[in-house]
Amino acid sequence: MEEFLNKIRDDHHNFDKGELSDHVGNDPFAFFHDWFKEAVTVQQPEANAFVLSTVNAKFQPSSRVLYIKELTEEGMVFFTNYSSQKGEELENSPLCSALFFWPSLERQIRIEGIVSKVSSEVSDAYFKSRPRESQLGAWASQQSQQLENREQLIQRFKEFSQLYFEEVPRPPHWGGYVLKPSKFEFWQGRPSRLHDRIVFDRMDANNEWNIYRKNP
Ligand SMILES: Cc1cc2nc3c(=O)[nH]c(=O)nc-3n(C[C@H](O)[C@H](O)[C@H](O)COP(=O)(O)O)c2cc1C
Repeated sequence: MEEFLNKIRDDHHNFDKGELSDHVGNDPFAFFHDWFKEAVTVQQPEANAFVLSTVNAKFQPSSRVLYIKELTEEGMVFFTNYSSQKGEELENSPLCSALFFWPSLERQIRIEGIVSKVSSEVSDAYFKSRPRESQLGAWASQQSQQLENREQLIQRFKEFSQLYFEEVPRPPHWGGYVLKPSKFEFWQGRPSRLHDRIVFDRMDANNEWNIYRKNP
């Protein structure tokens, strides 16, 4: 392990794939969209995956990877189980953070904001678009609850596939959230660790953003 770690430690990555000019515009959503498009264009694996961090009632943070499924005027939409750990934590504290990391472009985007549930119509529409197996999986999995053994999960999957042999309705405990950002930080790796960081900090309820650079 140590030998392996030493090997990585001595590999001093020189970030030189791009730069972040002062001309980022005044709309962080548009800028996010441009970067997202580039990540997809360069075939960054799992470009739509991000880390969502939440806190529990004791302020213990926890993080997990999710997929962003839509980018609306309000924010980033993702889908999950409302009764999961993240669901319970978001119920208690809707403030959270999201992190995108696109190594192919030497970029990361940090987002802070607040979540709310999307409408049942939006959740229904997305649930409908999923493959039948994923729909049944949403019923079978009591996400984040302790599971005695894998057979139990498979058994529940079979039971729901018999119950819903035609259309699978959306489970009431499954749906989407929209994360409304109040802060974005765009990070571009640069040589000599003199990385570019540009922050968009929302000033008020209007779409006015305070835009500034940060030291790397
Ligand atoms: C690449 C990737 C994408 C994922 N996408 C989702 C997702 O969109 N929704 C989801 O509920 N879980 C997704 N997961 C699983 C979550 O990371 C996590 O295990 C699960 O949501 C339970 O989290 P919780 O116990 O903190 O609520 C994904 C995992 C990976 C590795």
